Amino acid sequence: MKMSVIGCGYLGAVHAASMVKLGHEVVGIDVDNAKIEALAAGQSPIYEPGLPELLVESVGSGRLTFSTDPAAAKGSKVHFVAVGTPQKAGSYAADLRFVDAAVQGLLPYLSEGDLVVGKSTVPVGTAERLAKMVEPTGARLAWNPEFLREGFAVKDTISPDRLVYGLPADAGDAARAKALLDEVYAEALAADTPLVSTDYATAELVKVAANAFLATKISFINAMAEISEATGADVTQLADAIGYDARIGRRFLNAGAGFGGGCLPKDIRAFSARAEELGKGEALNFLKEVDGINLRRRDRVVELVVEALGGSAYNKKVAVLGLAFKPDSDDIRDSPSLDVAVRLNGLGANVVASDPQAIANSRRMHPQLVFGTTEEALRDADAVVVVTEWKEYRELDPKAVGEMVTSKIVIDGRNCLDVAAWRDAGWKYTGMGRR
Ligand code: UDX
Repeated sequence: MKMSVIGCGYLGAVHAASMVKLGHEVVGIDVDNAKIEALAAGQSPIYEPGLPELLVESVGSGRLTFSTDPAAAKGSKVHFVAVGTPQKAGSYAADLRFVDAAVQGLLPYLSEGDLVVGKSTVPVGTAERLAKMVEPTGARLAWNPEFLREGFAVKDTISPDRLVYGLPADAGDAARAKALLDEVYAEALAADTPLVSTDYATAELVKVAANAFLATKISFINAMAEISEATGADVTQLADAIGYDARIGRRFLNAGAGFGGGCLPKDIRAFSARAEELGKGEALNFLKEVDGINLRRRDRVVELVVEALGGSAYNKKVAVLGLAFKPDSDDIRDSPSLDVAVRLNGLGANVVASDPQAIANSRRMHPQLVFGTTEEALRDADAVVVVTEWKEYRELDPKAVGEMVTSKIVIDGRNCLDVAAWRDAGWKYTGMGRR
């Protein structure tokens, strides 16, 4: 099928290339000329495992092209809208400027029977409004939220764990929209991927509800970490024990520096803001707590470093290992790890921060920080802080690292190190919510 993808950022670039892998012919459209040129040359604008190879293959096949001109969407049957919905400056609400502009820009090129498919994460009620913009062209709108995780984006797009279609109210329109989406996702459907076909509002809500639930799960365990710290309990064992209850489950119960990234933090804030607009703010009051607990964990990492250094980080060399909001990503949006580095630096510590992929992005945002290799960070450090659980940090040899540093003090901001091994090697180990 011929399709267009409007917005070639994280979501759009992965979606466009993955659709080619599923056998379709795709044009990716974005206003950013530099991004389009790079993509057209088969270069990935982000660090995402598997994406560079997929881009080279798809562009090489001639079935993936890129353009800055919305007219390139003409002739496509399905048009995915995959632009960003960042947090509005000075507010918790989502900024819908890019979504509105993408749909507006598409209108002149839509034909009777086309389907515009929203993938961006939006406040509930947006699809209904956009559908009214699209309908006069003879095209229709569907909402098809995306649940991809960074680091697994290609796999999650090609083999999603579920598909959600938000379809028009009119039964005929809904059937036609569903048939087109079924054709798009034929491969996933043939593999028995669960499908929920519903209305616009439910589809929009599924996405924010899923992210709100995940954020709540993480903040729940981080709240338990706070209580563990006050009582001498161990939150990791606590998570194991409650996680054996199948109703709870062990995943997303890792206590640590908290969640970050381009989705969870802004999505829970936008969800709260939308609930308030709907006069239902109270229903989501708990999300403010979820956000608050999350932000407190960053403070806690900094506090633990200062405590371990005897009450002041001033003039102490601190190795900060990790800047990306999670491993296998170069994304530093709302990253607790980068935040910890910046705060320690602000306290007068001589921070040397490292990350396998996120240094360039971090430097652009915080040129005042000193960055280096893992070794440069560790050499003569008075304290080591691990804030992103990259494999190379989890696998560090505590004996070898012990020989490089000035003091064997390690703060494990992600509870990802082997406590016994580090303690046996003579380290003063402090985890998050652990004895
Ligand atoms: C998330 C959702 O998982 C995805 O379904 C949605 O579409 C977009 O948002 P992503 O932002 O890629 O995906 O990251 P995710 O793997 O969910 O991790 C989010 C943050 O939570 C990271 O900072 C991670 O370190 C943190 N986290 C995750 C924890 O602190 N503890 C956990 O147990 C799990």
